[in-house]
Amino acid sequence: MNTQDHKYSRPEPAIRNMPLPGDANANGDIFGGWILSQMDLAGSIVANERAEGRTVTVAVEGMKFHRPVFVGDTVSCYARVVRVGSTSITVDIETVAKRRNLREEVTVTEGTFTYVAIDDEGNPRNVK
Ligand SMILES: CC(C)(COP(=O)(O)OP(=O)(O)OC[C@H]1O[C@@H](n2cnc3c(N)ncnc32)[C@H](O)[C@@H]1OP(=O)(O)O)[C@@H](O)C(=O)NCCC(=O)NCCS
Repeated sequence: MNTQDHKYSRPEPAIRNMPLPGDANANGDIFGGWILSQMDLAGSIVANERAEGRTVTVAVEGMKFHRPVFVGDTVSCYARVVRVGSTSITVDIETVAKRRNLREEVTVTEGTFTYVAIDDEGNPRNVK
């Protein structure tokens, strides 16, 4: 790792959002796809910073849904770069939900997202 990677050695808050009723299924739980998109956005923010440019998502691994997310929760994604390859950047992401009207915070999901830095033609670009 180069010195720039040290700032990613700890999870950083990359995104915070609140799901709305339109993001919920008939049970009132938030769709997994909504949570995945938040995680993907969070990961791409730190990956783009590390890549100093555009990246695309190439893989999602180890995705776990531990607890449900509800309308009105405050949802935060913490992201940490765990690997930098020649053109790829791998980011561990943990999502935490703060329940409405409660101080309780719970880990709701985690997953490992890999991004590839690309050039203007969409071809992999070196990030080392
Ligand atoms: C990402 C993309 C540019 C890679 O192109 P490619 O020609 O297959 O590139 P390569 O095979 O050289 O792989 C590039 C890097 O990705 C990594 N990679 C490829 N597939 C992977 C996978 N399933 N899991 C983890 N890493 C993977 C490779 O190991 C390589 O990393 P490295 O250079 O750090 O060693 C191309 O597959 C693509 O455009 N995919 C669509 C992306 C997309 O639309 N995402 C959704 C919207 S953002």
